[in-house]
Amino acid sequence: MFRMPGILMIMSTALFFAGNSIGSSNIEEAVKKRIQMFKSSSTNLKKLSKSIREGDVSTSVELVDFHIKWSEEMLLLFPSGSEASTSNGSDASSDIWRDTTGFKKRAGQYNLSSKQLKEALEINDFSQINNNFESLVKSCKTCHRHFRN
Ligand code: HEC
Repeated sequence: MFRMPGILMIMSTALFFAGNSIGSSNIEEAVKKRIQMFKSSSTNLKKLSKSIREGDVSTSVELVDFHIKWSEEMLLLFPSGSEASTSNGSDASSDIWRDTTGFKKRAGQYNLSSKQLKEALEINDFSQINNNFESLVKSCKTCHRHFRN
């Protein structure tokens, strides 16, 4: 009976270190991957703006699909412990984990704006396309204002 806590302590310490080293490489991967995705998202947005101006609906729909998918997956690339540090190259604010509900709400707004833009493209409603594109851009900026350093 008396020996149990000691054994458990050793076991859990071993688990902690093992978990930690696996965890930190996963965290580095997540940071790298999300920065790459955000860069693609920015490049995509410029192309999308151009294809909308040119009235190229099919290209625009293809481009907007990226945002629908990315907005649904982005939360997976923000594991706890992956906020900005001096070594990981991230600009993610620690508020993401302090106010997770708020962060999810912003990601949800980004998702909704993308879907609404797709709907407007599908009915080819010019003024709605422009309004919804503006909302999409605004959803990026609002999240950055709150959650990017
Ligand atoms: C729900 C929040 C959220 C939304 C929505 C969002 N971003 Fe971000 N974005 C972030 C965070 C957090 C970072 C910092 C990530 C990091 O450095 O780890 C970031 C970083 C970036 C970066 C910098 C990547 C680099 O080079 O370091 C770009 C570019 C970017 N976002 C573009 C966009 C665009 C374009 C949109 C909209 C289409 C968008 N983001 C929507 C939260 C968001």
